[in-house]
Amino acid sequence: MSRPIVLQIDRVRTGYGKIPALTDVSLRVPEGAVVAVLGSNGAGKSTLLRVASGAMPCWAGRVLVNGKDIRGKSGWKVAREGVCYIPEGGGVFQELSVADNLDLAQRGGRVSPAALRELYELFPILGKRRDQSAGSLSGGEKRMLALGRAVLLRPKIVMLDEPSLGLAPIVVDQVFETLRVLHAEGTALLVVEQFAARALELADFAWVLAKGRVAFRGWPTQLEDPSVLEAAYLGKARAARDLAEAATSAADATAAPGPGITRHSVAAGGGVAAHRNSSEGTD
Ligand SMILES: Nc1ncnc2c1ncn2[C@@H]1O[C@H](COP(=O)(O)OP(=O)(O)OP(=O)(O)O)[C@@H](O)[C@H]1O
Ligand SMILES: [Mg+2]
Repeated sequence: MSRPIVLQIDRVRTGYGKIPALTDVSLRVPEGAVVAVLGSNGAGKSTLLRVASGAMPCWAGRVLVNGKDIRGKSGWKVAREGVCYIPEGGGVFQELSVADNLDLAQRGGRVSPAALRELYELFPILGKRRDQSAGSLSGGEKRMLALGRAVLLRPKIVMLDEPSLGLAPIVVDQVFETLRVLHAEGTALLVVEQFAARALELADFAWVLAKGRVAFRGWPTQLEDPSVLEAAYLGKARAARDLAEAATSAADATAAPGPGITRHSVAAGGGVAAHRNSSEGTD
C-alpha cells in the first residue's frame, strides 16, 4: 500500500515579475520519504521550495500539504501544517539567542529540559553558544541551530535549501547525520543540494530540474549513471528517461525481481516495473 502524500505540487507555474522560473512542475513527497531535488544553477530549485513552503505564490497549479491547498496561506500558516522550511543560510531568528531560538521551536511553551539535553548532546556547539545571538554564529553553527529547531519541532516535512553549502566537510557530515536522525523519526525531507552524491545517498526519490521544468524523476540509483545525470542537467528529459530505462532493463536481465520487492532490491537490479506499479514518487 502506498504511503499518504505529505506534499503534493501539481503543475505549478510561477516566477519573478513577468519572468517564469517554474513551468508545469509536479512533485510528490510521501510521508517519511526523502526526496532530493537536483539541477544546475538557476534551474528553479530554490523557487520550488519557496512555493512549496508558502513563501511565494504560484501563478498556476496548486500545492497541497497533507491534502490541504495552501494557496493564499502565509508562510507561518503553512508552518502550522507541519512544514519546516530552512532557506539557504537561514531558518533562524538572527536577533534572538540560541536558547531562545530553540525555546520558540517548541510550540506552546518552553522546551523540556530532557529534549534540550538530547539536542545539546546532538549538537554540543549549540550548548556552548546558548547565550549568543543567532546572528553572530558561524555559517555551520547557524545551520546546526536551524536543524536543531527542526529536530524539536518534529514537523511532518523539512524542506532544506542547500544544507551543505559553504560548510567544512566535517560539518557536512554532521548535517547529513542530523538529516538521518530526522528521517529515522519519520519526518519527510525535501532536500535541494548541489552536492548530488550526498543527497542521492540519503534519498528515496530524485528529481532533476532544468530551466524551470522537471527533466527527470526516478530513483537516486538511476542518477548514478553519469549519462543520465548529464542529460537531465541539460534538460534533455526524454534522453534521460530512455537512458535510465535502458540501464535498468540491462540490470533486469541479470536479476529477476521476486515478491515483496523494495526500493533497495530494485536498486540492486529489481527492475523498473516495480517503480511503475508504485504510486510513490510519481505523478
Ligand atoms: N528574487 C528573484 N528575483 C528575480 N529573479 C529571481 C529571483 N530569485 C530567482 N530568480 C530567477 O529565477 C530562476 C530560478 O532561480 P532559483 O534561485 O530558483 O534557482 P536555483 O536552482 O535555486 O539556483 P542555484 O543553484 O544557483 O541556487 C533564475 O533564473 C533566477 O535568476
Ligand atoms: Mg538555489
